[in-house]
Amino acid sequence: MRLPSSLTTRLALAYGLATAAILASVAAYLSSALSAQLEGRDESELVGEVLLVRHLLREVRSEAEIRADTHRFADIAMGHEGLILVVRTRQGEPLVTLNPRNEIVPPLRVLPATTQPEKGMLQTWRPKNGVPSRGIAALGQLGDSDKAVEIVVLRDAGYRVALIREYRHQLLWATLCGAAVAAGLGFALARRALRPLRRMAADAAAVTTSRLATRLDVGSAPAELRELAAALNDMLARLQDSFSRLSEFSADLAHDFRTPISNLIGQTQVTLAQSRKTAEYEALLESNLEEYERLARMIENMLFLARADHAQVALDVRTLDAREELDKMAEYFEAVAADREVVLTVSGSAPVEADQTLLRRAVTNLLDNALRHAPAGSTVRVDVARAPTAAGTGTGTSIRVSNPGPAIPPETLPHIFGRFYRADPSRRNSAASTGLGLAIVDTIMRLHGGSVTVRSVDGLTVFTLQFPAEPMPVPIAPAAIS
Ligand SMILES: Nc1ncnc2c1ncn2[C@@H]1O[C@H](COP(=O)(O)OP(=O)(O)OP(=O)(O)O)[C@@H](O)[C@H]1O
Ligand SMILES: [Mg+2]
Repeated sequence: MRLPSSLTTRLALAYGLATAAILASVAAYLSSALSAQLEGRDESELVGEVLLVRHLLREVRSEAEIRADTHRFADIAMGHEGLILVVRTRQGEPLVTLNPRNEIVPPLRVLPATTQPEKGMLQTWRPKNGVPSRGIAALGQLGDSDKAVEIVVLRDAGYRVALIREYRHQLLWATLCGAAVAAGLGFALARRALRPLRRMAADAAAVTTSRLATRLDVGSAPAELRELAAALNDMLARLQDSFSRLSEFSADLAHDFRTPISNLIGQTQVTLAQSRKTAEYEALLESNLEEYERLARMIENMLFLARADHAQVALDVRTLDAREELDKMAEYFEAVAADREVVLTVSGSAPVEADQTLLRRAVTNLLDNALRHAPAGSTVRVDVARAPTAAGTGTGTSIRVSNPGPAIPPETLPHIFGRFYRADPSRRNSAASTGLGLAIVDTIMRLHGGSVTVRSVDGLTVFTLQFPAEPMPVPIAPAAIS
């Protein structure tokens, strides 16, 4: 059986059912108590009738006198529904018979005249309706003589059963009506109690992307809903945060694409304004090529970040010799370093659990930055070492890239891993910079379950890549857009 989907209906049903259960048990108790009471009263009456008939018999002297005034005896049984009274001689000849339904008088054990009848002496018989009933037979003395007649008093319990049945019927109706009223009341109460929930739904329905700052009123919500309202508000806050970051991100994206494209258009228009020498066209194409490359790099980087956001980057994590990898990269950057008159050194050694391509990409981005920011004549150092993980879950590997140079201002430090962030505004439109390098490093480290941190003090900037002991890919979605 399926429960109704409405909470109000469920509560109303629950109220109704609970009330019905309570009323039904009270009704069952009442009807069985009444039945026991009626039965007890019937039994006392049977004993009382025998005593009464015996008393009347004391006042008559002969059987003939009884026959002459049967009404006296019959009156005793009057008004007692289902009562049968027979007074007969010891030979079985009836003197008084009050038996409206003509029940067959059963053979009962007859108590002697001297025995005081009691409830415990009642015997069971079955009238025509089949309901087990009680009866008693006893001798009664005539006057002071030692002559006695037989008194039989029976009670047909059918009437009592009918009475109880009728009573139960009424109780059943009362129970059903009570349950229906309780369900109705429950419905009204539940509707009233759930009003704050409907108000909350209306508030939530009013939240749109342009009204993400709307919050649910936690203070006026009932205690049970306060937690829900607070959780929804937290969710709204997170959504608002992500949404505004996403908006900023798209604005940045548009801006960053517009610059190389307007460069391309501007330079091309200027060149085409008049006829030029072949060398000038060649220079234009060369300059355009630079912009195309920048655009291509940006698109490639964006694609990588987008794929990582949707966990579509498959990692091929292996145990690599970090030193070997770093040496190769140092060799690759040798020419650039020499060009900038910077010395590049690699020290330490440790295995690392990483995806080779992504590891190279992360270190390349760090080295590219370090070599660019290191002043001529300085040294860029790369260190690799075993290091306990930040979470204390074992020993991982750390790769540190440090370069001397002007420190990154502390207020910009939290932003440098953001997409399109460039601390130095003059680099904003530089063809060499996309502002995505560190965002990619951050994403790569998250993909590995590791982290990247930066320290920039006293003219030394140090980026540390922390690889975990065991790679544990973590979802990176919204956090990466920081
Ligand atoms: N070693 C460093 N020393 C000083 N500043 C740095 C260093 N590394 C990064 N930064 C600052 O952080 C900013 C963000 O770096 P990021 O690598 O993300 O972008 P980028 O180098 O400008 O562009 P891209 O790497 O995409 O070519 C840089 O613009 C720079 O201002
Ligand atoms: Mg960079």
